Amino acid sequence: MLTGKEPAQAIKDEVAERITKLGKRVGLATVLVGDDPASEVYVRMKHKAAAKVGMYTYDHHIPGDTPQGEVEDLVRNLNADPAVDGILVQLPLPDGLNPDTVIDIIDPGKDADGLHPYSLGLIMLERSGGAVPATPQGIMKMLDFYDIETEGKLAVVIGRSRLVGRPMGMLLNHKAANSTVVYAHSRTKDLESITAMADILIVAAGRPGLVTVNGVKPGAVVVDVGINRVDDQLVGDVDFDSIAEVASAITPVPGGVGPMTIASLLLNTVALAETRAEAG
Ligand code: GUN
Repeated sequence: MLTGKEPAQAIKDEVAERITKLGKRVGLATVLVGDDPASEVYVRMKHKAAAKVGMYTYDHHIPGDTPQGEVEDLVRNLNADPAVDGILVQLPLPDGLNPDTVIDIIDPGKDADGLHPYSLGLIMLERSGGAVPATPQGIMKMLDFYDIETEGKLAVVIGRSRLVGRPMGMLLNHKAANSTVVYAHSRTKDLESITAMADILIVAAGRPGLVTVNGVKPGAVVVDVGINRVDDQLVGDVDFDSIAEVASAITPVPGGVGPMTIASLLLNTVALAETRAEAG
């Protein structure tokens, strides 16, 4: 089983060391708009993890009916605040707010989540220097930690979101990974026959039970990015128990990808702080 705890701890240990070596305060600002309970939990977990590695956090929790212009002004203020090395705007934003224009305003040099078009553009070009979206970055680090070969493998990614699916496919497509990537999504025909070809199957659709054992090749590696609340329990997008019988490796939910996302956010933030410190 591909649990996130150990690889996430390895990253967090590295982050703590790098913060000590940097010798200055490293600050992460979070922006949470509204009171979505899941988002509140995620942001709280990020703050807790940041504190544990010695990172300072600045918590901006603002009402769900905050006008677009005020949310954007908050991001501008954080861009200008020298104590802030990384900015994270928790998604989704409440209905009525446009996430694109909010994220566009984040200084790419403070883009802790790697969601700015500039950061994503660097990824498309396989160029270094920008932050990599936390969840796909965490998944790549997890595959690496568990010595899972990506070279020449058929990777099927279900989902094409800015947060996960689209950058995930790009990272697997990079020469550093050399997978052959297929993007599947809600309009894909005969999804099961496509996922059944995958050596590496990444599922980020947010639909519990989307992938059953019939859609998994024996020996495949299955990474479940879904976090769904069903009957008061957290479940992923795949039928864990039956797939675990045939897959060579599978991530649990919770305790799989989630901890890697948080660790990668901290890693991005310390890297941004180092770059800012070098620039003076
Ligand atoms: N919402 C769900 N996951 C994430 C994430 O990794 N980053 C942000 N900003 N919002 C999210």
